Amino acid sequence: MCGIIGYVGTKSAKDELLEGLKMLEYRGYDSAGVCCFEKGDFRVIKKKGKVDALIEVCQGQLKDTHCGIGHTRWATHGDPSDKNAHPFLSENNSVAIVHNGIIENFEALKGGLQKQGVRFRSDTDSEVIAQLLQKSKCESELKKVQELSNLLVGSYAIAILFRGLENQIFAIRKNSPLIVGKAKDGYYLASDVNALVDKTDEYHIMEENEIIWIDSHDCYAFDKNLQAVEINYHKMDLSKQDISRGAFEHYMLKEIMQVPNAIKQTIKECDAPHNPYMRIPREILKDLKHITIIGCGTAFNAAMTASHYARERDIIVDCAYASEYRYQKYLNIENEVCIFVSQSGETADTIEALKIAKEHNIPTIVVTNVASSTLNKLADYIIPTKAGPEIAVASTKAYSAQITALYGLMDYIYCIKHKLNCRSCILKDKLADVVDKLQNFNFTKINKLAEILKDSERVFFIGRGVDYATSQEASLKLKEISNIHSESLFAGELKHGTLALIDEQTTVVVIATQKHLFDKTMNSIYEIKARGARVVLVTQFKADSDAIDMIVELPCTDQAIMAEIAIYPMQMLAYKTAVLKGLDPDKPRNLAKSVTVE
Ligand code: AGP
Ligand code: GLU
Repeated sequence: MCGIIGYVGTKSAKDELLEGLKMLEYRGYDSAGVCCFEKGDFRVIKKKGKVDALIEVCQGQLKDTHCGIGHTRWATHGDPSDKNAHPFLSENNSVAIVHNGIIENFEALKGGLQKQGVRFRSDTDSEVIAQLLQKSKCESELKKVQELSNLLVGSYAIAILFRGLENQIFAIRKNSPLIVGKAKDGYYLASDVNALVDKTDEYHIMEENEIIWIDSHDCYAFDKNLQAVEINYHKMDLSKQDISRGAFEHYMLKEIMQVPNAIKQTIKECDAPHNPYMRIPREILKDLKHITIIGCGTAFNAAMTASHYARERDIIVDCAYASEYRYQKYLNIENEVCIFVSQSGETADTIEALKIAKEHNIPTIVVTNVASSTLNKLADYIIPTKAGPEIAVASTKAYSAQITALYGLMDYIYCIKHKLNCRSCILKDKLADVVDKLQNFNFTKINKLAEILKDSERVFFIGRGVDYATSQEASLKLKEISNIHSESLFAGELKHGTLALIDEQTTVVVIATQKHLFDKTMNSIYEIKARGARVVLVTQFKADSDAIDMIVELPCTDQAIMAEIAIYPMQMLAYKTAVLKGLDPDKPRNLAKSVTVE
């Protein structure tokens, strides 16, 4: 879930590790720590809380270090505490490790080791890794690491140091990303390419079950049978500016302001002469009968939005939460395609869902924002979103880019099925209009609404058709960063139960961008007002009624893609409300940027 950093080279390992941990902070964590070789021995410093607290403790320490590993932990087993923070040393201090992920069979492994007299110092699943390596009878460290990967069940990215092998780092991964960065002064290891920006010009994405052995001069890769494998380096195409907050108060604000550009860049990609849609074989699309779009959280909401667009083009689409898709009964549907949507490309549930689709020989397409991601490696076809790095936990620009890419894909499929020319992005001009309108969006009303919502206990978002999908996303945004209880509903469903919760203390935000549904949605507004709630209408249509307390006017564009416009003020609403409540919107409590555990 969280962060791993490693360094071996001529620079100060302490400085490189602490800088790396700062770069990984955005992923959400509860403790941090480092372990460096110091005069041939391990020196561990770890602490519950922020990386800044760790930096403070490290002051004046670890002065002459050139090799080490660091970690930001998001607790899965054992409470957040100094004791449970990584790195862990084995009982006799001969092995040091950091681990991302979950060791599912840790209880059995731990029990076995305890029977042999091994004493554990933490409550985590991860510590078992260090103890297993210490106990290993294999003759070489490389073999010990290979043996370890055969013993562990679950998801892991692990960096390992062995006492006696100063300036060497070993690493393995399974279902959790790990990247090696090559620099003039040495090598880095990181769970996230962002931590390597400005540090390395080239990076290698470790393959599933790959074993890495690095020292300050070289990096060697092996498969699970310890056969040497080739290392493929990619050019680093991110700059410090791409991942810095710049003059913005928060990353989330920067990313909301980048929404228009995220849409623009994604259209450009979809409209290129050799656009990514064209890599999907026509034979797959021309007889296509059914699409399942799968994702989690915001990515699922993007899927739902696109499913309405597809339906208008007579394409049958179902949406599924990845965590549900994994366990539901598989139905053998002829000529089906699965599309997986994910900003990070590292969400564990989405990865597992994709593996299931592959097991059933269903062609898989991913829509992701991170080229180096695991989903990209696993999928048959890739549609990249071009939102640029998204750092804030709450997804904004990636969502807008996902919808854009999915609209383009549905148009492409429609054209193939109807034997139409489909070389360029049909929506190009209409989306350009959206970009223009978003760039000039007036947020005055949103500021006022945020003032009202900051003291609310309960907020409902409702809509019909595609507006329900927007309501879902608006509600998710608000609840994740403002800690206000919020729900979204189909407008027509209110009277079937939730109306019981509507009173003078409630605010209901009604999203209404579909002309044919507008009058029906007005009926819901009257029902809500009759129970005394505050009603906010978000629409591009003229509406004049005493039942409405506030209207957030939307600029008008083609109704089919109004969702791109309607979500924009809702993203800003969540942001402003969180800030007014004195919360840090970039780091909501209990959440992490990418959920790499199940
Ligand atoms: C978005 O604001 C959330 N933080 C969360 O729902 C997120 O969209 C979800 O975890 C999926 O992430 P992914 O797009 O990286 O797969
Ligand atoms: N499962 C491990 C723990 O709870 C690692 C969690 C993480 O990925 O940060 O310590």
